[in-house]
Amino acid sequence: MGKKIALVTGGIRGIGHAISKKLLSSGAFVIAVGTNKERCKKWVDTQKEEGFEDVDAYACDVSDCSAASEMIKSIKEKYGRIDILVNNAGITRDATFKKMTLQQWDEVMKVNVNSLYNVTQPVLGLMLDNGYGRIVNISSINGQKGQFGQANYSTAKAAVHGFTKSLALETASKNITVNTVSPGYIATDMMRDIPEEILQKIIAQIPVKRLGTPEEIADIVQYLSDEKSGFITGSNIAINGGQHMC
Ligand code: CAA
Repeated sequence: MGKKIALVTGGIRGIGHAISKKLLSSGAFVIAVGTNKERCKKWVDTQKEEGFEDVDAYACDVSDCSAASEMIKSIKEKYGRIDILVNNAGITRDATFKKMTLQQWDEVMKVNVNSLYNVTQPVLGLMLDNGYGRIVNISSINGQKGQFGQANYSTAKAAVHGFTKSLALETASKNITVNTVSPGYIATDMMRDIPEEILQKIIAQIPVKRLGTPEEIADIVQYLSDEKSGFITGSNIAINGGQHMC
């Protein structure tokens, strides 16, 4: 059957980039999805310079249903199947709820929640035809504990749990697993928008007293994407330095 083919949304930056790299290192063919064509091309060139030939990238707004469906159609024509899907694309638009605009609410829902439908629906068809699949959905610590200033993002990340569990039930007998990974505060660009004094307060609340690394998330995603994880489905793996235990 050859290499497993993995699709990672938001796969050229931050946690998504670390996931793409980890899957590449573990022998998968990785197709990363970004939003900008030039950055995607540059990312592919960089991976090839680093010795990873089995790599491709698509620029696609995953909040746009027809764009996502066109992308999956094109991947099917080019590569025939998708074995691993990591739904990682996500954005924040932080504001206290009293100040939150409808646009801040909608943007977060469209990118973080609607993309789950837009990408997974056509990918699932391919996995069902192929009789195999691993789907990993990236949520967040804040989908379970809530976060001051993130009513939109916490709502969206809580939705990921319902999606994972329902889809896991529907696909368990089809050799397809669906799991959630919930990162805590990880050292990525996303943290740049948090004011420094708030960030320091957040780090003080993390029992291990540091931010996580993208690679620590990628390791678990890789395990859940592997054939050997077939008995894990509908689960949530929290990776947050002990900040929230449930
Ligand atoms: N808890 C309690 N009160 C808080 C607070 C907190 N965490 N943060 C601010 N406040 C208080 C302020 O002290 C102030 O109080 P007073 O009105 O009594 O003076 C009040 O709230 C300020 O309210 P504003 O509406 O004016 O807030 P703001 O515009 O100054 O800032 C914010 C609000 C932008 C949301 C800011 O608090 C912030 O950036 N918070 C961090 C949000 C966060 O953690 N984001 C995570 C991003 S990373 C990520 O999301 C990845 C992941 O999955 C973990």
